[in-house]
Amino acid sequence: MEPQYISLMLGLLLAAFLTLSSATSPHDNFLRCLSLSSNQSSSIARVVFTPDNSSYSTILESRIRNHRFWTTDTPKPFVIVTPLLASHIQATIHCSRNHGLQLRIRSGGHDYEGLSFVSHVRFVLVDLINFRSVDVDVENRVAWVQSGAILGELYYKIAEKNKTLAFPGGICHTVGIGGYMSGGGYGLLFRKYGLAADNVIDARLIDVYGRILDRQSMGEDVFWAIRGGGGGSFGIVLSWKLKLVSVPPIGTLFTVRRTLEQNAINLIHKWQYVAPKMPHGMYFDVALSQVKSTRDGKKTVVSSFIAFFLGSTDELVPLMHERFPELGIRKKDCIEMSWIESIIYLGKIRNQPLEVLLDRDFQTPLTLPSYKSKSDYVKELISEIGLKGLWTSFSENEAEFGVIYFFSYGGIMDEIPESSTPFPHRAGNLYKIIYNVGWKEQDNINSDKYIDWIRRIYGYMGTYVSKSPREAYINYRDLDIGTNSEGNTTSYARASVWGRKYFKNNFDRLVLAKTMIDPENFFRHEQSIPPLWKKE
Ligand code: FDA
Repeated sequence: MEPQYISLMLGLLLAAFLTLSSATSPHDNFLRCLSLSSNQSSSIARVVFTPDNSSYSTILESRIRNHRFWTTDTPKPFVIVTPLLASHIQATIHCSRNHGLQLRIRSGGHDYEGLSFVSHVRFVLVDLINFRSVDVDVENRVAWVQSGAILGELYYKIAEKNKTLAFPGGICHTVGIGGYMSGGGYGLLFRKYGLAADNVIDARLIDVYGRILDRQSMGEDVFWAIRGGGGGSFGIVLSWKLKLVSVPPIGTLFTVRRTLEQNAINLIHKWQYVAPKMPHGMYFDVALSQVKSTRDGKKTVVSSFIAFFLGSTDELVPLMHERFPELGIRKKDCIEMSWIESIIYLGKIRNQPLEVLLDRDFQTPLTLPSYKSKSDYVKELISEIGLKGLWTSFSENEAEFGVIYFFSYGGIMDEIPESSTPFPHRAGNLYKIIYNVGWKEQDNINSDKYIDWIRRIYGYMGTYVSKSPREAYINYRDLDIGTNSEGNTTSYARASVWGRKYFKNNFDRLVLAKTMIDPENFFRHEQSIPPLWKKE
Protein backbone atom coordinates (compact mmCIF):
# COMPACT_ATOMS: atom_id res chain seq x y z
CA MET A 1 0.00 0.00 0.00
CA GLU A 2 1.23 3.45 -0.89
CA PRO A 3 2.55 5.41 2.14
CA GLN A 4 0.09 8.27 1.45
CA TYR A 5 -2.88 5.81 1.64
CA ILE A 6 -1.52 4.33 4.86
CA SER A 7 -1.31 7.77 6.46
CA LEU A 8 -4.83 8.60 5.15
CA MET A 9 -6.21 5.38 6.68
CA LEU A 10 -4.46 6.09 9.95
CA GLY A 11 -5.88 9.63 9.91
CA LEU A 12 -9.43 8.29 9.36
CA LEU A 13 -9.04 5.72 12.13
CA LEU A 14 -7.77 8.41 14.51
CA ALA A 15 -10.70 10.70 13.63
CA ALA A 16 -13.18 7.83 14.22
CA PHE A 17 -11.52 7.03 17.54
CA LEU A 18 -11.66 10.65 18.65
CA THR A 19 -15.32 10.92 17.65
CA LEU A 20 -16.20 7.76 19.55
CA SER A 21 -14.24 8.67 22.64
CA SER A 22 -15.86 12.10 22.81
CA ALA A 23 -19.36 10.68 22.11
CA THR A 24 -21.79 12.10 24.60
CA SER A 25 -25.00 10.65 25.99
CA PRO A 26 -28.08 12.59 24.81
CA HIS A 27 -28.21 14.16 28.27
CA ASP A 28 -24.65 15.44 28.48
CA ASN A 29 -25.07 18.63 26.46
CA PHE A 30 -28.21 19.53 28.34
CA LEU A 31 -26.59 18.88 31.72
CA ARG A 32 -23.54 20.91 30.68
CA CYS A 33 -25.82 23.77 29.69
CA LEU A 34 -27.53 23.61 33.09
CA SER A 35 -24.24 23.80 35.00
CA LEU A 36 -22.96 26.66 32.84
CA SER A 37 -26.20 28.63 33.06
CA SER A 38 -26.85 28.27 36.75
CA ASN A 39 -25.01 30.61 39.10
CA GLN A 40 -24.94 27.81 41.62
CA SER A 41 -23.31 25.26 39.30
CA SER A 42 -22.29 23.05 42.18
CA SER A 43 -25.79 22.75 43.63
CA ILE A 44 -27.80 22.29 40.44
CA ALA A 45 -26.20 18.88 39.77
CA ARG A 46 -27.82 17.64 43.00
CA VAL A 47 -31.31 18.40 41.75
CA VAL A 48 -31.08 17.06 38.21
CA PHE A 49 -32.18 13.47 37.56
CA THR A 50 -31.84 11.49 34.32
CA PRO A 51 -33.36 8.02 33.81
CA ASP A 52 -29.94 6.54 34.75
CA ASN A 53 -30.24 8.02 38.21
CA SER A 54 -31.56 5.67 40.89
CA SER A 55 -33.90 8.35 42.31
CA TYR A 56 -35.46 9.24 38.94
CA SER A 57 -38.44 6.83 39.14
CA THR A 58 -39.14 7.51 42.79
CA ILE A 59 -39.23 11.26 42.23
CA LEU A 60 -41.36 10.92 39.12
CA GLU A 61 -43.88 8.60 40.72
CA SER A 62 -44.11 10.33 44.08
CA ARG A 63 -46.42 13.01 42.73
CA ILE A 64 -48.29 11.05 40.08
CA ARG A 65 -51.66 11.19 41.78
CA ASN A 66 -53.56 9.52 38.94
CA HIS A 67 -52.15 6.12 38.11
CA ARG A 68 -53.88 6.20 34.73
CA PHE A 69 -50.61 7.94 33.83
CA TRP A 70 -48.22 5.52 35.50
CA THR A 71 -47.97 2.73 32.95
CA THR A 72 -45.04 1.41 30.93
CA ASP A 73 -46.43 3.20 27.86
CA THR A 74 -46.69 6.61 29.52
CA PRO A 75 -43.95 8.89 28.11
CA LYS A 76 -41.39 9.82 30.76
CA PRO A 77 -39.34 13.03 31.12
CA PHE A 78 -35.93 13.36 29.48
CA VAL A 79 -34.70 15.00 32.68
CA ILE A 80 -36.32 15.91 36.01
CA VAL A 81 -35.19 19.04 37.84
CA THR A 82 -36.26 19.68 41.45
CA PRO A 83 -34.98 23.27 41.81
CA LEU A 84 -33.85 24.67 45.13
CA LEU A 85 -33.29 28.20 43.87
CA ALA A 86 -34.92 30.51 41.35
CA SER A 87 -31.64 30.43 39.40
CA HIS A 88 -32.11 26.67 38.87
CA ILE A 89 -35.47 27.37 37.26
CA GLN A 90 -34.03 30.16 35.14
CA ALA A 91 -31.25 27.83 33.94
CA THR A 92 -33.75 25.05 33.15
CA ILE A 93 -35.94 27.37 31.09
CA HIS A 94 -32.89 28.73 29.24
CA CYS A 95 -31.42 25.30 28.44
CA SER A 96 -34.77 23.73 27.50
CA ARG A 97 -35.35 26.56 25.01
CA ASN A 98 -31.82 26.22 23.60
CA HIS A 99 -32.16 22.46 23.19
CA GLY A 100 -35.67 22.58 21.73
CA LEU A 101 -37.10 20.68 24.70
CA GLN A 102 -40.57 21.19 26.06
CA LEU A 103 -41.05 21.91 29.73
CA ARG A 104 -43.69 20.61 32.12
CA ILE A 105 -44.28 22.20 35.52
CA ARG A 106 -45.46 20.16 38.48
CA SER A 107 -46.58 21.47 41.87
CA GLY A 108 -48.93 18.92 43.48
CA GLY A 109 -49.34 16.63 40.44
CA HIS A 110 -53.17 16.44 40.58
CA ASP A 111 -53.79 17.50 36.98
CA TYR A 112 -56.70 15.29 35.87
CA GLU A 113 -55.06 14.61 32.50
CA GLY A 114 -51.50 14.33 33.82
CA LEU A 115 -50.33 17.40 31.86
CA SER A 116 -47.88 18.39 34.58
CA PHE A 117 -45.74 15.29 34.06
CA VAL A 118 -46.62 13.70 30.69
CA SER A 119 -45.86 14.97 27.20
CA HIS A 120 -45.69 13.19 23.88
CA VAL A 121 -42.69 15.23 22.77
CA ARG A 122 -39.30 15.17 24.51
CA PHE A 123 -39.63 17.18 27.71
CA VAL A 124 -38.02 18.35 30.93
CA LEU A 125 -40.00 18.13 34.16
CA VAL A 126 -39.62 20.96 36.68
CA ASP A 127 -40.94 19.61 39.97
CA LEU A 128 -41.46 22.34 42.57
CA ILE A 129 -41.32 20.01 45.59
CA ASN A 130 -38.57 22.16 47.16
CA PHE A 131 -40.49 25.42 46.65
CA ARG A 132 -42.95 25.02 49.50
CA SER A 133 -42.48 27.67 52.13
CA VAL A 134 -45.53 29.28 53.74
CA ASP A 135 -45.21 32.64 55.55
CA VAL A 136 -48.29 33.78 57.41
CA ASP A 137 -48.59 37.42 58.51
CA VAL A 138 -51.51 37.43 60.94
CA GLU A 139 -51.39 41.14 61.61
CA ASN A 140 -51.87 42.06 57.97
CA ARG A 141 -54.01 38.99 57.25
CA VAL A 142 -51.88 37.85 54.31
CA ALA A 143 -49.69 34.86 53.49
CA TRP A 144 -46.96 34.26 50.92
CA VAL A 145 -47.02 30.65 49.81
CA GLN A 146 -44.78 28.94 47.30
CA SER A 147 -46.34 26.91 44.49
CA GLY A 148 -44.90 23.55 45.56
CA ALA A 149 -46.69 23.68 48.93
CA ILE A 150 -49.95 21.76 49.27
CA LEU A 151 -53.26 23.19 50.49
CA GLY A 152 -52.87 21.28 53.77
CA GLU A 153 -49.55 22.99 54.54
CA LEU A 154 -51.15 26.39 53.97
CA TYR A 155 -54.16 25.58 56.21
CA TYR A 156 -51.95 24.15 58.95
CA LYS A 157 -49.60 27.13 59.03
CA ILE A 158 -52.54 29.54 59.21
CA ALA A 159 -54.26 27.59 62.01
CA GLU A 160 -50.99 27.34 63.92
CA LYS A 161 -51.03 31.13 64.25
CA ASN A 162 -54.72 31.95 64.37
CA LYS A 163 -57.79 29.70 64.51
CA THR A 164 -60.20 32.32 63.15
CA LEU A 165 -58.26 33.02 60.00
CA ALA A 166 -58.53 30.77 56.93
CA PHE A 167 -58.02 30.62 53.20
CA PRO A 168 -60.92 29.71 50.89
CA GLY A 169 -59.34 26.58 49.39
CA GLY A 170 -60.43 23.02 48.57
CA ILE A 171 -61.06 19.97 50.75
CA CYS A 172 -58.42 17.62 49.38
CA HIS A 173 -55.34 18.74 51.31
CA THR A 174 -52.73 17.18 48.99
CA VAL A 175 -53.68 19.40 46.03
CA GLY A 176 -50.75 21.64 45.03
CA ILE A 177 -50.92 25.40 45.38
CA GLY A 178 -49.40 25.99 41.91
CA GLY A 179 -52.04 24.21 39.84
CA TYR A 180 -54.94 25.00 42.17
CA MET A 181 -54.47 28.80 42.12
CA SER A 182 -53.74 28.77 38.40
CA GLY A 183 -57.17 27.30 37.62
CA GLY A 184 -59.34 29.34 40.02
CA GLY A 185 -59.83 26.95 42.94
CA TYR A 186 -63.14 26.50 44.79
CA GLY A 187 -63.69 25.12 48.28
CA LEU A 188 -65.86 25.14 51.38
CA LEU A 189 -65.80 28.94 51.71
CA PHE A 190 -66.27 29.92 48.07
CA ARG A 191 -69.90 31.06 48.39
CA LYS A 192 -68.80 33.55 51.04
CA TYR A 193 -65.33 34.62 49.88
CA GLY A 194 -65.10 33.60 46.23
CA LEU A 195 -62.48 31.41 44.62
CA ALA A 196 -58.90 31.06 45.76
CA ALA A 197 -57.87 33.12 42.72
CA ASP A 198 -60.20 35.94 43.82
CA ASN A 199 -58.08 36.19 46.95
CA VAL A 200 -54.63 36.43 45.33
CA ILE A 201 -53.14 39.90 45.69
CA ASP A 202 -49.64 39.44 44.26
CA ALA A 203 -47.48 36.72 42.74
CA ARG A 204 -43.93 36.02 41.57
CA LEU A 205 -43.57 34.57 38.10
CA ILE A 206 -40.52 33.46 36.12
CA ASP A 207 -41.14 34.14 32.45
CA VAL A 208 -39.71 32.60 29.29
CA TYR A 209 -36.73 35.00 29.41
CA GLY A 210 -35.93 34.04 33.00
CA ARG A 211 -37.12 37.36 34.45
CA ILE A 212 -38.64 37.23 37.94
CA LEU A 213 -41.75 39.40 37.82
CA ASP A 214 -44.17 40.55 40.49
CA ARG A 215 -47.64 41.99 40.01
CA GLN A 216 -46.31 45.41 39.13
CA SER A 217 -43.60 44.29 36.72
CA MET A 218 -45.70 41.62 34.97
CA GLY A 219 -48.55 44.12 34.50
CA GLU A 220 -52.25 43.79 35.28
CA ASP A 221 -53.10 41.75 32.15
CA VAL A 222 -50.67 38.96 32.97
CA PHE A 223 -51.52 39.13 36.68
CA TRP A 224 -55.18 38.76 35.66
CA ALA A 225 -54.34 35.78 33.42
CA ILE A 226 -52.41 33.71 35.95
CA ARG A 227 -55.35 33.83 38.39
CA GLY A 228 -57.57 31.27 36.68
CA GLY A 229 -56.28 31.01 33.10
CA GLY A 230 -54.89 27.53 33.82
CA GLY A 231 -51.36 26.41 34.69
CA GLY A 232 -48.54 25.93 32.24
CA SER A 233 -49.31 28.75 29.78
CA PHE A 234 -47.68 31.93 31.04
CA GLY A 235 -44.53 30.96 32.93
CA ILE A 236 -43.66 29.34 36.24
CA VAL A 237 -45.39 30.91 39.22
CA LEU A 238 -43.00 30.71 42.15
CA SER A 239 -45.25 32.06 44.87
CA TRP A 240 -48.56 33.74 45.63
CA LYS A 241 -49.55 36.45 48.08
CA LEU A 242 -52.94 35.56 49.52
CA LYS A 243 -55.58 37.50 51.38
CA LEU A 244 -56.71 35.56 54.46
CA VAL A 245 -60.36 35.54 55.50
CA SER A 246 -62.24 35.34 58.82
CA VAL A 247 -64.04 32.23 60.03
CA PRO A 248 -65.88 31.74 63.32
CA PRO A 249 -64.15 29.42 65.81
CA ILE A 250 -66.95 26.89 65.33
CA GLY A 251 -69.03 25.98 62.31
CA THR A 252 -71.59 23.22 61.76
CA LEU A 253 -71.47 20.28 59.43
CA PHE A 254 -73.95 17.63 58.36
CA THR A 255 -73.88 14.74 55.94
CA VAL A 256 -77.14 12.87 55.50
CA ARG A 257 -77.86 10.05 53.05
CA ARG A 258 -81.12 9.46 51.24
CA THR A 259 -82.02 6.58 48.94
CA LEU A 260 -84.58 6.31 46.19
CA GLU A 261 -87.03 4.88 48.70
CA GLN A 262 -86.42 7.93 50.87
CA ASN A 263 -87.45 10.25 48.07
CA ALA A 264 -83.95 11.12 46.90
CA ILE A 265 -84.95 12.32 43.44
CA ASN A 266 -87.57 14.64 44.80
CA LEU A 267 -85.10 15.98 47.37
CA ILE A 268 -82.40 16.68 44.79
CA HIS A 269 -84.98 18.39 42.65
CA LYS A 270 -85.81 20.69 45.53
CA TRP A 271 -82.12 21.10 46.48
CA GLN A 272 -81.55 22.75 43.08
CA TYR A 273 -83.50 25.83 43.97
CA VAL A 274 -82.94 25.90 47.72
CA ALA A 275 -79.15 25.50 47.82
CA PRO A 276 -78.08 28.41 45.56
CA LYS A 277 -80.21 30.78 47.66
CA MET A 278 -78.82 29.72 51.03
CA PRO A 279 -76.85 32.33 53.04
CA HIS A 280 -73.34 33.04 51.74
CA GLY A 281 -71.80 31.27 54.73
CA MET A 282 -73.22 27.90 53.73
CA TYR A 283 -71.54 25.33 51.52
CA PHE A 284 -74.05 22.74 50.33
CA ASP A 285 -73.44 19.89 47.90
CA VAL A 286 -74.99 16.56 46.92
CA ALA A 287 -73.03 13.45 45.93
CA LEU A 288 -74.55 10.49 44.07
CA SER A 289 -72.90 7.11 44.26
CA GLN A 290 -73.67 3.41 43.91
CA VAL A 291 -74.20 1.24 46.99
CA LYS A 292 -75.51 -2.23 47.68
CA SER A 293 -78.95 -2.18 49.25
CA THR A 294 -78.89 -3.43 52.84
CA ARG A 295 -82.28 -5.05 52.18
CA ASP A 296 -81.66 -7.23 49.11
CA GLY A 297 -77.95 -6.61 48.26
CA LYS A 298 -78.92 -5.17 44.87
CA LYS A 299 -77.20 -2.11 43.45
CA THR A 300 -78.89 1.14 44.25
CA VAL A 301 -77.97 4.82 44.34
CA VAL A 302 -77.49 6.85 47.44
CA SER A 303 -77.48 10.63 47.53
CA SER A 304 -75.44 12.31 50.25
CA PHE A 305 -76.36 15.86 51.20
CA ILE A 306 -73.29 17.57 52.64
CA ALA A 307 -73.21 21.02 54.20
CA PHE A 308 -70.79 23.18 56.14
CA PHE A 309 -72.22 26.29 57.74
CA LEU A 310 -70.34 29.22 59.29
CA GLY A 311 -72.54 29.30 62.38
CA SER A 312 -73.93 27.13 65.16
CA THR A 313 -76.30 24.15 65.10
CA ASP A 314 -78.89 26.35 66.78
CA GLU A 315 -78.83 28.65 63.77
CA LEU A 316 -78.57 25.94 61.11
CA VAL A 317 -81.41 23.64 62.18
CA PRO A 318 -84.17 26.32 62.08
CA LEU A 319 -82.75 27.60 58.76
CA MET A 320 -83.01 24.10 57.27
CA HIS A 321 -86.54 23.67 58.63
CA GLU A 322 -87.60 26.93 57.10
CA ARG A 323 -85.97 26.50 53.68
CA PHE A 324 -85.75 22.74 53.19
CA PRO A 325 -88.03 20.92 55.68
CA GLU A 326 -88.27 17.86 53.39
CA LEU A 327 -84.63 16.97 54.12
CA GLY A 328 -85.56 16.58 57.79
CA ILE A 329 -82.30 17.83 59.32
CA ARG A 330 -82.28 17.30 63.08
CA LYS A 331 -79.92 18.52 65.75
CA LYS A 332 -78.38 15.07 66.00
CA ASP A 333 -77.40 15.14 62.31
CA CYS A 334 -75.19 18.17 62.98
CA ILE A 335 -71.62 18.23 64.27
CA GLU A 336 -69.97 21.43 65.43
CA MET A 337 -66.32 21.82 64.48
CA SER A 338 -63.86 24.42 63.30
CA TRP A 339 -63.32 25.14 59.62
CA ILE A 340 -59.96 23.33 59.58
CA GLU A 341 -61.46 20.29 61.34
CA SER A 342 -64.14 20.19 58.65
CA ILE A 343 -61.38 19.88 56.02
CA ILE A 344 -60.13 16.75 57.78
CA TYR A 345 -63.64 15.39 58.32
CA LEU A 346 -64.83 15.92 54.74
CA GLY A 347 -61.49 14.76 53.36
CA LYS A 348 -62.39 11.43 55.00
CA ILE A 349 -59.28 11.37 57.16
CA ARG A 350 -61.22 11.43 60.42
CA ASN A 351 -59.71 10.94 63.87
CA GLN A 352 -56.35 12.24 62.76
CA PRO A 353 -54.43 15.14 64.30
CA LEU A 354 -54.11 18.40 62.34
CA GLU A 355 -50.56 17.33 61.39
CA VAL A 356 -52.06 14.95 58.82
CA LEU A 357 -52.52 18.08 56.70
CA LEU A 358 -48.74 18.22 56.28
CA ASP A 359 -48.63 14.73 54.78
CA ARG A 360 -48.35 15.32 51.05
CA ASP A 361 -48.03 11.60 50.26
CA PHE A 362 -51.34 10.84 51.91
CA GLN A 363 -53.45 8.66 49.60
CA THR A 364 -56.78 10.43 49.66
CA PRO A 365 -59.78 8.13 49.99
CA LEU A 366 -61.67 10.69 47.89
CA THR A 367 -60.42 8.97 44.72
CA LEU A 368 -59.19 5.57 43.59
CA PRO A 369 -55.65 5.28 42.20
CA SER A 370 -56.81 5.78 38.58
CA TYR A 371 -59.59 8.10 37.51
CA LYS A 372 -61.21 10.32 34.90
CA SER A 373 -63.38 13.38 35.50
CA LYS A 374 -65.59 15.75 33.56
CA SER A 375 -67.53 18.87 34.55
CA ASP A 376 -70.67 20.82 33.67
CA TYR A 377 -72.56 23.93 34.76
CA VAL A 378 -76.31 24.02 35.33
CA LYS A 379 -78.30 27.20 34.71
CA GLU A 380 -81.86 25.83 34.66
CA LEU A 381 -83.54 23.39 37.02
CA ILE A 382 -83.33 19.79 35.87
CA SER A 383 -86.67 17.99 35.88
CA GLU A 384 -87.25 14.94 38.05
CA ILE A 385 -87.38 12.82 34.89
CA GLY A 386 -83.98 14.21 33.88
CA LEU A 387 -82.51 13.37 37.29
CA LYS A 388 -83.99 9.87 37.12
CA GLY A 389 -81.80 9.15 34.07
CA LEU A 390 -78.74 9.44 36.30
CA TRP A 391 -80.11 6.67 38.51
CA THR A 392 -80.34 4.40 35.48
CA SER A 393 -76.68 5.08 34.61
CA PHE A 394 -75.63 4.12 38.12
CA SER A 395 -77.05 0.64 37.72
CA GLU A 396 -74.22 -0.19 35.29
CA ASN A 397 -71.22 -2.23 36.52
CA GLU A 398 -68.68 0.50 35.64
CA ALA A 399 -70.43 2.80 38.11
CA GLU A 400 -69.13 0.86 41.10
CA PHE A 401 -66.58 3.61 41.82
CA GLY A 402 -68.40 6.47 40.14
CA VAL A 403 -69.44 9.64 41.97
CA ILE A 404 -71.35 12.64 40.69
CA TYR A 405 -71.18 15.83 42.76
CA PHE A 406 -73.50 18.81 42.50
CA PHE A 407 -71.86 21.94 44.04
CA SER A 408 -74.31 24.75 44.65
CA TYR A 409 -73.37 28.21 43.42
CA GLY A 410 -74.93 31.56 44.35
CA GLY A 411 -73.64 33.59 47.28
CA ILE A 412 -70.80 35.95 46.39
CA MET A 413 -70.21 34.00 43.15
CA ASP A 414 -73.27 35.85 41.79
CA GLU A 415 -71.74 39.20 42.69
CA ILE A 416 -68.20 38.91 41.32
CA PRO A 417 -68.15 40.08 37.68
CA GLU A 418 -67.47 37.42 35.04
CA SER A 419 -64.43 39.31 33.79
CA SER A 420 -62.74 39.95 37.14
CA THR A 421 -60.59 36.84 36.65
CA PRO A 422 -60.39 34.38 33.71
CA PHE A 423 -62.83 32.07 35.57
CA PRO A 424 -66.18 33.08 34.00
CA HIS A 425 -68.71 30.77 35.68
CA ARG A 426 -70.37 33.26 38.01
CA ALA A 427 -73.93 34.71 38.09
CA GLY A 428 -76.56 32.63 36.37
CA ASN A 429 -75.18 29.28 37.47
CA LEU A 430 -77.26 27.26 39.90
CA TYR A 431 -74.59 24.65 40.42
CA LYS A 432 -71.58 22.86 38.99
CA ILE A 433 -71.47 19.13 38.29
CA ILE A 434 -68.36 17.00 38.58
CA TYR A 435 -68.52 13.47 37.18
CA ASN A 436 -65.83 11.20 38.52
CA VAL A 437 -65.10 7.56 37.87
CA GLY A 438 -62.27 5.59 39.42
CA TRP A 439 -60.81 2.13 39.09
CA LYS A 440 -58.11 0.07 40.71
CA GLU A 441 -54.61 0.28 39.27
CA GLN A 442 -54.65 -3.34 38.12
CA ASP A 443 -57.72 -2.47 36.06
CA ASN A 444 -55.85 0.19 34.03
CA ILE A 445 -56.01 -2.27 31.17
CA ASN A 446 -59.81 -1.84 31.21
CA SER A 447 -59.74 1.92 31.67
CA ASP A 448 -61.71 2.45 28.43
CA LYS A 449 -64.83 0.85 29.81
CA TYR A 450 -64.88 3.21 32.81
CA ILE A 451 -64.08 6.23 30.66
CA ASP A 452 -66.85 5.21 28.25
CA TRP A 453 -69.28 5.09 31.17
CA ILE A 454 -68.50 8.64 32.23
CA ARG A 455 -68.67 9.82 28.60
CA ARG A 456 -72.12 8.23 28.26
CA ILE A 457 -73.39 10.08 31.34
CA TYR A 458 -71.88 13.30 30.03
CA GLY A 459 -73.63 12.68 26.71
CA TYR A 460 -76.92 12.10 28.48
CA MET A 461 -76.59 15.30 30.53
CA GLY A 462 -76.05 17.45 27.43
CA THR A 463 -79.77 18.21 27.29
CA TYR A 464 -79.84 19.66 30.79
CA VAL A 465 -76.67 21.72 31.21
CA SER A 466 -75.15 24.93 29.82
CA LYS A 467 -74.97 25.21 26.05
CA SER A 468 -73.10 27.27 23.42
CA PRO A 469 -70.63 26.89 24.92
CA ARG A 470 -71.09 23.85 27.12
CA GLU A 471 -69.05 25.28 29.99
CA ALA A 472 -66.37 23.35 31.88
CA TYR A 473 -64.01 23.99 34.80
CA ILE A 474 -60.34 24.21 33.84
CA ASN A 475 -59.15 22.64 37.10
CA TYR A 476 -61.17 19.54 36.18
CA ARG A 477 -59.12 19.29 33.05
CA ASP A 478 -60.76 17.21 30.35
CA LEU A 479 -59.01 16.62 27.05
CA ASP A 480 -62.26 15.28 25.54
CA ILE A 481 -63.44 18.86 25.03
CA GLY A 482 -60.62 19.68 22.62
CA THR A 483 -56.84 19.93 22.48
CA ASN A 484 -54.05 21.76 20.71
CA SER A 485 -52.32 20.02 17.80
CA GLU A 486 -49.51 17.46 17.91
CA GLY A 487 -46.47 18.84 19.69
CA ASN A 488 -48.92 21.29 21.24
CA THR A 489 -48.38 24.03 18.68
CA THR A 490 -51.80 25.34 18.01
CA SER A 491 -53.97 27.84 16.28
CA TYR A 492 -56.27 30.38 17.84
CA ALA A 493 -59.23 28.76 16.05
CA ARG A 494 -58.43 25.29 17.33
CA ALA A 495 -57.75 26.44 20.87
CA SER A 496 -61.00 28.45 20.89
CA VAL A 497 -62.95 25.17 20.83
CA TRP A 498 -61.86 24.14 24.32
CA GLY A 499 -60.89 27.67 25.42
CA ARG A 500 -64.41 29.11 25.19
CA LYS A 501 -65.77 26.22 27.26
CA TYR A 502 -63.37 26.96 30.07
CA PHE A 503 -63.22 30.76 29.77
CA LYS A 504 -66.12 31.97 27.57
CA ASN A 505 -65.25 35.47 26.27
CA ASN A 506 -62.33 35.79 28.69
CA PHE A 507 -60.46 33.48 26.31
CA ASP A 508 -59.58 36.41 24.02
CA ARG A 509 -58.04 38.40 26.86
CA LEU A 510 -56.03 35.32 27.87
CA VAL A 511 -54.68 35.11 24.31
CA LEU A 512 -53.58 38.76 24.53
CA ALA A 513 -51.87 38.17 27.88
CA LYS A 514 -50.13 35.12 26.46
CA THR A 515 -48.94 37.13 23.46
CA MET A 516 -47.42 39.71 25.82
CA ILE A 517 -45.65 37.34 28.18
CA ASP A 518 -44.72 34.33 26.00
CA PRO A 519 -44.94 35.33 22.32
CA GLU A 520 -42.82 32.34 21.22
CA ASN A 521 -45.27 29.90 22.84
CA PHE A 522 -42.53 28.18 24.84
CA PHE A 523 -44.85 27.31 27.74
CA ARG A 524 -47.27 25.00 26.02
CA HIS A 525 -49.22 21.78 26.40
CA GLU A 526 -52.36 20.13 25.08
CA GLN A 527 -54.59 22.86 26.52
CA SER A 528 -52.30 25.87 26.86
CA ILE A 529 -53.38 29.33 25.71
CA PRO A 530 -51.92 30.15 22.27
CA PRO A 531 -50.37 33.54 21.41
CA LEU A 532 -52.28 35.73 18.99
CA TRP A 533 -50.03 35.15 15.99
CA LYS A 534 -51.15 31.53 15.98
CA LYS A 535 -54.33 32.54 14.11
CA GLU A 536 -55.29 30.21 11.25
P1 FDA B 1 -50.28 19.85 38.94
O1 FDA B 1 -48.94 19.98 39.53
O2 FDA B 1 -50.60 18.59 38.21
O3 FDA B 1 -50.54 21.11 38.03
C1 FDA B 1 -51.74 21.32 37.32
C2 FDA B 1 -51.50 22.24 36.12
O4 FDA B 1 -50.93 23.48 36.53
C3 FDA B 1 -50.50 21.67 35.11
O5 FDA B 1 -50.82 22.14 33.81
C4 FDA B 1 -49.19 22.27 35.56
O6 FDA B 1 -48.22 22.31 34.56
C5 FDA B 1 -49.61 23.65 36.00
N1 FDA B 1 -48.77 24.18 37.07
C6 FDA B 1 -48.50 23.57 38.25
N2 FDA B 1 -47.72 24.36 38.99
C7 FDA B 1 -47.51 25.49 38.29
C8 FDA B 1 -46.77 26.68 38.55
N3 FDA B 1 -46.11 26.83 39.68
N4 FDA B 1 -46.74 27.64 37.60
C9 FDA B 1 -47.42 27.48 36.44
N5 FDA B 1 -48.13 26.37 36.14
C10 FDA B 1 -48.18 25.38 37.06
N6 FDA B 1 -60.05 21.78 42.50
C11 FDA B 1 -60.77 22.73 43.14
O7 FDA B 1 -60.90 23.85 42.65
N7 FDA B 1 -61.35 22.43 44.35
C12 FDA B 1 -61.23 21.20 44.93
O8 FDA B 1 -61.76 20.97 46.01
C13 FDA B 1 -60.45 20.22 44.26
N8 FDA B 1 -60.28 18.98 44.80
C14 FDA B 1 -59.54 18.03 44.13
C15 FDA B 1 -59.36 16.76 44.68
C16 FDA B 1 -58.62 15.79 44.01
C17 FDA B 1 -58.44 14.43 44.61
C18 FDA B 1 -58.06 16.10 42.75
C19 FDA B 1 -57.27 15.08 41.98
C20 FDA B 1 -58.21 17.37 42.20
C21 FDA B 1 -58.96 18.34 42.88
N9 FDA B 1 -59.14 19.60 42.34
C22 FDA B 1 -59.88 20.54 43.02
C23 FDA B 1 -58.56 19.96 41.05
C24 FDA B 1 -57.22 20.66 41.25
O9 FDA B 1 -57.46 21.99 41.66
C25 FDA B 1 -56.44 20.67 39.92
O10 FDA B 1 -56.20 19.38 39.51
C26 FDA B 1 -55.14 21.47 40.08
O11 FDA B 1 -54.66 21.80 38.82
C27 FDA B 1 -54.13 20.67 40.85
O12 FDA B 1 -52.99 21.43 41.15
P2 FDA B 1 -51.61 20.66 41.42
O13 FDA B 1 -50.58 21.68 41.65
O14 FDA B 1 -51.82 19.59 42.41
O15 FDA B 1 -51.43 19.93 40.02
